[in-house]
Amino acid sequence: MTLNIEVLEQSFEKVKLHADEFAASFYENLFKANPELKPLFTKTDIKSQEKKLLNSLVLIVENIRKPEALEPVLKALGARHIGYGVIPKYYKPVREALLVTFEQYLQQHWTPEVKKAWLDAFTAITALMLKGAGEESTPKVVEKPTTLAKPVPSEQPATWQFQTKTLELSLSQLKQIPHKLIDAFWIAPTWFIAIVSATLFAVVVVIVDENFVLEEVLGAADTISLVVALVLFIKEIPDRRKQFHCQAWGTVDAAHGVKVSYARIFALQNLNEDGVSLRGLDASGAMLVDINLFHANLSNANLMTSDLTNANLHSANLDNANLCEAKLSGVNLSHAKLGFARLSRANLNSAKLNDANLICADLSHANLSGTNLKNASLSGANLQGAYLGSANLKNAKVSDAELRGAFLEGAIMPDGSKYRSQN
Ligand code: HEM
Repeated sequence: MTLNIEVLEQSFEKVKLHADEFAASFYENLFKANPELKPLFTKTDIKSQEKKLLNSLVLIVENIRKPEALEPVLKALGARHIGYGVIPKYYKPVREALLVTFEQYLQQHWTPEVKKAWLDAFTAITALMLKGAGEESTPKVVEKPTTLAKPVPSEQPATWQFQTKTLELSLSQLKQIPHKLIDAFWIAPTWFIAIVSATLFAVVVVIVDENFVLEEVLGAADTISLVVALVLFIKEIPDRRKQFHCQAWGTVDAAHGVKVSYARIFALQNLNEDGVSLRGLDASGAMLVDINLFHANLSNANLMTSDLTNANLHSANLDNANLCEAKLSGVNLSHAKLGFARLSRANLNSAKLNDANLICADLSHANLSGTNLKNASLSGANLQGAYLGSANLKNAKVSDAELRGAFLEGAIMPDGSKYRSQN
């Protein structure tokens, strides 16, 4: 589906002027037409929910030209909605309420073209959120990456062709044989591989030396058992790795609630080095100073009040992670994904956050003094009460409205100028 991005952006600019009232009217319209949805929000502070909804709309519209950045964030948002009790059929009333509210605020600018643009956008957003919800609720099957699968390239960056994956049919049967043999090696039972490798070795020996008779082959039993042992050693590497991963997770679990555990630091680093996802890790309050979790998948992790001083989290995925009140001074979060992350009251003094994605992150009352935020994306982020003295925001994606509640004395602003208060 190709979205009419220009129309979406222009119409949203008009709505942004009345942002707070727009969000309040949306919930009013939603509950008026669908009172049965109200119980879903009983525990919700509706004022902050209005802001969150608005933030997410800002995020969506501002990143609509970058679907690859938006996709994981929306899928994660959809997955979280399962926990809020949201089922697929609720998306329709929400869509209707959103359209009615747009009509209310855009008035004469609510043309059929604008309506279609928002309808298409909502359909695309819903598809992604439901996809994320589906992935969360279905059991995860560890799939071996197939060399035949290849994603369909999108026609242009702004077209939303998220779901299509197809098999490349042009590869010859011949090319598949080595892959099939390798797959069979890993799948087949160990006893079978032992017999096959012993037989193959014996056959090779006979072929190489035509004078070799059976007794001589049997005489070479020592060599054969050596070869079989080697083959089995290779075959059992994945099992040993699995065992090692189980032990490492055991160490992490055993350290739950314990503040200082060097074994946990070691286990987490090793798991990450092996490419194991640390998604949803619960290490709140843990001392993880200097830990190296480069490129780790820590999405949805609970690291509240943990001490990650000087940690290496370069390129890590911390989407939706809870880092409230975490100690993060000197941490390397360059190129990290922190969409919707909760960083309220975190200490990010002198942290590296350049090129990080902080869309809709909660940075309220965080200490960002001297933080490098060059090229960071802060669209929709909450910076209320954040301390940004001497921070570097050069080329950061952040609006004046988002910066309004922050302390900025001495900060380098997105345009490269130095912030000086009027008095
Ligand atoms: C366009 C689709 C939607 C968007 C962009 C959206 C956005 C959001 C956001 C940003 C939050 C804040 C919490 C978080 O980030 O996880 C949230 C929470 C929530 N949403 Fe949605 N939402 C959508 C659809 C729906 C639908 C269809 C329902 C069902 C009526 C719903 C009900 C809720 C509820 C109950 C919460 C939790 C409030 C709380 O207690 O904190 N949302 N939504």
